[in-house]
Order: sequence, then C-alpha cells, then structure tokens
Amino acid sequence: MAKPVSDAFVFFGATGDLAYKKIFPALQAMIRSGELDMPLIGVSRGGWSLERLRQRARASLEANGGVDEDAFARLCEQLRYIDGDYSDPETFRGLKQALGSASRPIHYLAIPPSMFGTVVQGLAASGCNANARVIVEKPFGRDLASARELNRELHAVFPESSIFRIDHYLGKEAVRNLLYFRFANTFLEPVWNRTYVDSVQITMAEDFGVQGRGAFYEEVGAIRDVVQNHLLQVMSLLAMDAPAGRDPESLRAEKLRLFRATRSLRPQDVVRGQFRGYRDETGVAADSQVETFVALRLYIDTWRWAGVPFYIRAGKKLPITSTQVMVDLKPPPLEIFDGISLADTNYFRFRLSPEVVISTGARVKKAGEGMEGRPVELVARSSRDLGKSPYEQLLGDAIEGDTSLFTRDDSVEEAWRIVEPVLPDSHGNHNTPLTIYEPGSWGPESASELVTDGRHWQDPQPEQSHPC
Ligand code: BG6
Repeated sequence: MAKPVSDAFVFFGATGDLAYKKIFPALQAMIRSGELDMPLIGVSRGGWSLERLRQRARASLEANGGVDEDAFARLCEQLRYIDGDYSDPETFRGLKQALGSASRPIHYLAIPPSMFGTVVQGLAASGCNANARVIVEKPFGRDLASARELNRELHAVFPESSIFRIDHYLGKEAVRNLLYFRFANTFLEPVWNRTYVDSVQITMAEDFGVQGRGAFYEEVGAIRDVVQNHLLQVMSLLAMDAPAGRDPESLRAEKLRLFRATRSLRPQDVVRGQFRGYRDETGVAADSQVETFVALRLYIDTWRWAGVPFYIRAGKKLPITSTQVMVDLKPPPLEIFDGISLADTNYFRFRLSPEVVISTGARVKKAGEGMEGRPVELVARSSRDLGKSPYEQLLGDAIEGDTSLFTRDDSVEEAWRIVEPVLPDSHGNHNTPLTIYEPGSWGPESASELVTDGRHWQDPQPEQSHPC
C-alpha cells in the first residue's frame, strides 16, 4: 500500500556544509522533475536571514552542478528560514508556525549526531513530530554503544518506520543496479554460493587525501568513515538472500540476517595504513595513529558463504578513484587445457564508480592450432550515466516513505558489532599496527598477506570505454 507523501520538507543545518554541497542541488533537481512542490524550511542557529539563505542556495548550485533558473526561482519561492538555537523552544514554535497547514512534515537532521536528541525533543515538545518523518545523516554513532544511544534518542519520539538513516552509497545508481542485477536474473543464483565462488573483493580507492577534513578524519579513520557503513552495505547487497517479498521490510530483513551471520573482525584480519603526509594536514595530530587505509577479511557463516573470504579495502591517496567489486569464481575442476590459474578464472565485476559497469570474465580459445586461451570480458552494462544523484534519490524516497534504501536500527547496530573489535579504545589506542604508505601506492605491502591461497588483490584500472 502506498505510504502518504510528506507535505513539508524541513532541514536542520540549513547554513552548513552538507546543505551547501548536497541538499540544495538535490532540492533543485527534485523541483525540476516536479517531485517537490511543498514548503522547504531551512532551520539553523547561524543568525541568517531568508535572503541570505537564498544567496547561499544560489552559490551552492553554482558550485555544484549549475543553476536552473526556473527551478531555482521555484526553490526560492518555496524556501522559508527559521533562525534559532536548537535547545530554545522558541525555534520550534517558529517552525510550527512556518509549517502552517502542512500535516505530514519530514525533518532532515543535517547536523552533528550530538544534536539529534535535542532536536527531536524540540520537535516533540512543539508537536512538529505529529505524522512526521525524520532523516538522519551518517555517521550514525562511533561504536555500538553510541549507535544504541542514538537509536534510543530517536525512538523516544519517532517509531522506527518513520526514521530514515542515510547512507548515500545506497542511493547510487550503480549500487541499486547491483541489487537489480542480482535479483532480476536467474543465471546468477546457481553459482552465487560457496560451491562456485572462490572469494569476493570490494575495493574503494580514492586518489585524493582528506581534503581539508583532517580534524573530522582524526575522529573517524577509514573503518568508521566508509567500512562500517558504505562497504558493509555493499557487501550485504552482494551476499544476502533474495527478499521474500517486494516490500522494503523484506529486503531489510535479509540484510539483517546477513549481518547477523557475519563474524566480528579480529585484529589478525585487518591491516591499517596511513599515507605519508597525513600528519601534516591541518587538524591532524603529529603522532596520529588514525588509518587512511584499511584492508580486511570477513567471513559470513551461512550455508551459502561458509569459508568464502570477503576482502574489503578502502584508502585515500591510492593510484585511482574507483569503487569496484570482484566476485571470483573457482577454476574448472579439471585442467583439460592450458593451466588456468586462480588469477585467470571467471569472475563478475561490478564497478560502482566513477562509471557503472557490470561484466563477467570468461576465457576463449586463441585462433590457431593449440588449445590455448585468453581472458575476455563480457560487458552487460557500461555507462557514465549515473542517473539521479544519491541525495536526490534518497530524499525523494524518504518523502514518499519508502525505507528500502535506508539502514534500519538493528542492521546499523550489527554493522558496528562487526567492526567494533578493531576500533580504537576510548583512549585512542589501537590493537592493530599502523604502517605508513607512500601516496600513489596501493597501501601497505602487508595488505597482501590477508589475501592468501594463491589469491591477490585486484586493483581497479582506468575503465575502457564500451558504452552499452
Ligand atoms: C563519505 C566519506 O561518506 O564518502 C568520504 O566521509 C568519502 O571520506 C565519500 O570520500 C565517498 O563518497 P563518494 O560518493 O564520493 O564516492
């Protein structure tokens, strides 16, 4: 049954960085496509005016994709601004007034998680929570205990079905295509298991550093920044069983089952690195032990995946910016032709960025007398068209009440449970060593020791163009 559509969009943190980089461009795109005809109410403690927020919106669009004058004019018309402290009831009285006749608002908390509790309490005390939805941003906690605490604060005011936790990776066209490709085809399922799959690799490489976010990064590191959320989410879509129904809860139930079956990380499954020069960044400690690279090995204890290693790698200042999944199949059971090593076997490749590519690796015979082969790649999809931006996709879904691409309380907590044993303790002490690596390299050499039994890391390469 279709859920009611929200009828006012409220965003806290309206003068902040996220609004500037992501929210205004998404709002303009949604207005352009006719999906967003409702009051847009920015809230901030910045001491701004509506006029200043409109100017900020224009600057944001100029810097992030361009201004569409028609859509921008409508955005300005729909925009309201409430200035005030989040702990002041007056701010929420102002919000209530600005909501006017809207009866099903959606509140986007584009603010630090430490403020979530205060804001939801303000929403409740003013009645702005009635029939409302709430969207919250990553990072959702910094460990299992803090995630539980955030869930508790949100649940005090909103039921889980009205909470939308954003992981922008789930809004990416390529990630949605991964989900589609898996469950819209029959030919994958027979091989998608421990009998045929040798191992899975997920690499998220970035050729840039922390881009001025040193102080933020010091608080997180690669495991919290991208593994606990983005990359475990990708793993869950790759590895989960088919949902039993079309509804979002069926999908989310399978993801949870998968996370529950995933073993917690042990220190010996993790290699951490830091690029040389990170400690010179503003906001970074001279003796920082924070990782800008991590490689790890995970196991999922289900009948489907028992014994199949899932390797995950993420890093800054690597040779290329690309996120790619490789699902490597086992070699044929007998060697009838030329020696086919593990490195040459069939695979499925999902390139999630910067292009969308879905392909499979096969071998064909070389022309000539001998029975010698060569690898070829069969490309099912290759495109630079990334569709809607993740924020446009996800904000649109939240407004319609579709929770499919949002993370649920129990899954978020399970994802923290998986990484928690290799997070630093409350004094910042780590139980795994840190190795410095050179910018432009593939991280510490010791990462290769995780990938055993004739396997090796498969580094994403620049994509050849074969549009289809
Ligand atoms: C963010 C991380 O969540 O994702 C960043 O904080 C990372 O460190 C970014 O660079 C990557 O997202 P995208 O969509 O640019 O690949």
